[in-house]
Amino acid sequence: MADRQGSPHARLDGRVVLVTGAARGIGAATGRRLAADGARLVLADLDGPGVEKVAAELGQVAVQADVTRRDDVERMIDEAYNRWGRLDVLFNNAGVIRVQPLLEVTEEEWDRVLDVNLRAVFFVLQAAARRMVRQDPMPGSELRGKLIQTASIAAYRGGNSLMTPYSASKAGVVSLTRSAAQSLAPYRITSNCVCPGAVDTEMWHQIAREWGALEGRSPDEVWQRRIAPIPLGRPETPDDVSRVVAFLAGPDSDYMTGQALNVDGGLVMGN
Ligand SMILES: NC(=O)c1ccc[n+]([C@@H]2O[C@H](COP(=O)([O-])OP(=O)(O)OC[C@H]3O[C@@H](n4cnc5c(N)ncnc54)[C@H](O)[C@@H]3O)[C@@H](O)[C@H]2O)c1
Repeated sequence: MADRQGSPHARLDGRVVLVTGAARGIGAATGRRLAADGARLVLADLDGPGVEKVAAELGQVAVQADVTRRDDVERMIDEAYNRWGRLDVLFNNAGVIRVQPLLEVTEEEWDRVLDVNLRAVFFVLQAAARRMVRQDPMPGSELRGKLIQTASIAAYRGGNSLMTPYSASKAGVVSLTRSAAQSLAPYRITSNCVCPGAVDTEMWHQIAREWGALEGRSPDEVWQRRIAPIPLGRPETPDDVSRVVAFLAGPDSDYMTGQALNVDGGLVMGN
C-alpha cells in the first residue's frame, strides 16, 4: 500500500468526490476542505449560480442538479465518470428543513422534506453504488468506493415537536446508511454518515426565523438558547463537519463502515 504519511493536505490524493448541496453551508465548506486535501470534485446543487461560484473559486467542476430528479442524478454522476473515469466518494449532503408544529404538518410539507432528505439520498446513493460496484478499487486501497451521508442529531433527538418530518427523514438516513454498509460490504464499498448538531449555516438561520415566529422570540434568542447547552461551549461551524467528512473520505477510515458519527460538540452522547 502506498505511503500516506505525508502532508495533511494531500490525504485525498486525487480521489474523485461528488458533493451534493455544495453551493453553501456544510457542502461548500467540505468542497473547500476536500480540494485542499487534493481531491478532484464534482460540486452539485439546485442553486446553479451558487455552486458555479464555489467551483470557480476551487478550480473544480460544477453541476446544477436537483437531487430529487433521477435524470439530474445520473447527469451529476456521469460528470465524474466522463471526466475522470470513476467516482471514489459520494458526499450525499443536500437537505431541507421546515419548522412546524406536528399538528400542522401537511402532506405537501411531509413529502417535500422526505423527498429531498430521504428518498433522494437513497436514490443518489443507489445510483453512485451501481457504478462503483463495476469499477476497480481506488488506487492504494482495497475499497471500490465510499458513501458518506449527512444525517443529523435530530435522528436521535427531535429536540421538540417542531421538526417531526425532518427528524424522521434523518433517522431514515442513519438506517439506510447501515443497510448500505451491510449490502455493499461484499463489493468493498463503505457507507457512513455524519450527524451534525447546530451548525451556523443558512439552514439554521431559517430554523431560527421560523421557530422564533412560532414562539414570539427573536431568531437570535432561539439560536442562543440552542447553543447554550453545547458542552464544548461554542456553536458548530461548517468546518467542524468538513474535517470529519475529510476523514471519512480519506484512507484513515477505510476500515469503518455502518457508522453514524455525531459531530455536535457533545450535544448528544451516544445514539
Ligand atoms: N445546519 C445545521 O445545523 C445542520 C445540522 C444537522 C444536519 N444538517 C444537514 O446538513 C446538510 C447541509 O445543510 P446546511 O446546514 O449546509 O444547509 P444549507 O441550507 O446552508 O445548504 C443546503 C444546500 O442544499 C441545497 N439543496 C437543497 N435542496 C436541493 C435539491 N433538491 N437538489 C440539490 N441541492 C439541494 C441548497 O440549495 C443548499 O445549497 C443538510 O442535509 C442538513 O439537513 C444541518
